[in-house]
Amino acid sequence: MIVCANFKANKTRQETRAYMAVVESFVSANDIDDTIIVFPPFTALEHLPRNVLIGVQNAYPAQNGAFTGEITLEQLEEFEVKTILIGHSERRHILGESQEQITAKFRFFAEQGFVIVYCVGEPLSVREEGFSSLMNYIETQFEGIDLTYPDLIVAYEPVWAIGTGLTPSSQDIEQVHSALRAKTSAPLLYGGSVKVENAGEIMALENVDGILVGSAALSASDFCDMVAQASELNTEKGE
Ligand code: 13P
Repeated sequence: MIVCANFKANKTRQETRAYMAVVESFVSANDIDDTIIVFPPFTALEHLPRNVLIGVQNAYPAQNGAFTGEITLEQLEEFEVKTILIGHSERRHILGESQEQITAKFRFFAEQGFVIVYCVGEPLSVREEGFSSLMNYIETQFEGIDLTYPDLIVAYEPVWAIGTGLTPSSQDIEQVHSALRAKTSAPLLYGGSVKVENAGEIMALENVDGILVGSAALSASDFCDMVAQASELNTEKGE
């Protein structure tokens, strides 16, 4: 299983340090061998040995250069960061990232051998049009993306489920994930209002290989609880 915490624009450097101490000691004390990835804000990156992968929520696709306000490969290398989130709905919809920009990021960081957690997901209006509209919409989010990239992880995050407390039914998640499975052999995460109470049930679904958690992962103890649920499921799902 793959269990990810996306902090978004939350937590200070100090708070992240305290959080990581809790999660890292939980992971070692419980011999967790699942992949755990935390995406803190840039200001909380630290160059420390980790038993948990640290990823960034965004970066600019260049070695360095005149890109005011951006972070490029050179800064990530300083922290040995090799994991990145690309295509998150908040970057698509709030920051206005186009598929073209997303594709450029994907190509650049794939060439650099990054683990890429690539996010897709439909807004409510598309979901209401039915399954084939939904899959057509997701297809447009795969334009220019190499679904055979070996270090790819795909996260399905319906826009209307993010931060709302709403989640699709188990059947709906399975339906989308099985369609995604037909397109790629990359691990498939579900994200959108995952919390301690529903994480186990969601991870147990067919073609769900992990979760990408926002608000509920801001509590280190809740995040550890979800990691423990993932670890228990491995035996059941035969992983
Ligand atoms: P929430 O878990 O807060 O719904 O956010 C999900 C998300 O966007 C993770 O990337």
